[in-house]
Amino acid sequence: MTEPALLAKVIAHRGASGSAPENTLAAISLAAEVGATCVELDASISSDNIPFVHHDDTLERCTNGRGYLCAHTAKELDALTASSNKAGFDSEPLPRLSQAVALLSSLQMGLNLEIKPTPGLEEPTALAVCDVIRDSWPIDLPLVLSSFSREALAVARDTLPGAARALIVCAVPDDWQHQTQLLQCRNLHMAAPLLDAQRAKDIIDGGLGLYCFTVNDSDTAAKLLEMGAHGVFSDYPGELLDSLS
Ligand code: G3P
Ligand code: MG
Repeated sequence: MTEPALLAKVIAHRGASGSAPENTLAAISLAAEVGATCVELDASISSDNIPFVHHDDTLERCTNGRGYLCAHTAKELDALTASSNKAGFDSEPLPRLSQAVALLSSLQMGLNLEIKPTPGLEEPTALAVCDVIRDSWPIDLPLVLSSFSREALAVARDTLPGAARALIVCAVPDDWQHQTQLLQCRNLHMAAPLLDAQRAKDIIDGGLGLYCFTVNDSDTAAKLLEMGAHGVFSDYPGELLDSLS
């Protein structure tokens, strides 16, 4: 049986994204300041195969850029700034994954890195992410590579087998055991509202780590932890940590 890949009871979702621009270095630093020990970040690739930390396929919601992220070179993306929709954060860059890894390393924080390929770019995205992780992730800090994309996870499994993996789902599919075994995943990450006590027990009895997204209120977090979830992703990690302690 597999062992869960443990991260933290409260993982800062896209950094402390409730209070700083999501998936930025500032959101990582703020997560550390409010006591989080682990962040979740999303990664996709530029047209020249450099991984950037960004959630959407397109740039408009989170940056001052336009169009698909994957249509721009790394140099072009380096010139963008993240949307300053949070007070006090005016000109945050769109970070390269390598920059985020360097910051996490200096802060001694764990990482759940979600491989977020633009559809059609599953293989090159996973390969580029694995390259950065192989080259620069500190061996002694917690790391889980996760994805909704089974293709991306299969590439990660074959490219960097030593890095723990998690399958992300919203609802748990009937073939969750088969899929997690096939992809050699140690965790299942899922939408919090779609978990019930029996399902939680089945997943944990199956030897998997169980983490739920996205949880911003303490009652829900406490219920999920009571069901046996190993942790939750939150946009407000400081508030959740305070209320759970
Ligand atoms: O990795 C958990 C969660 O982040 C998955 O959904 O859309 O927030 O990336 P999303
Ligand atoms: Mg994510």
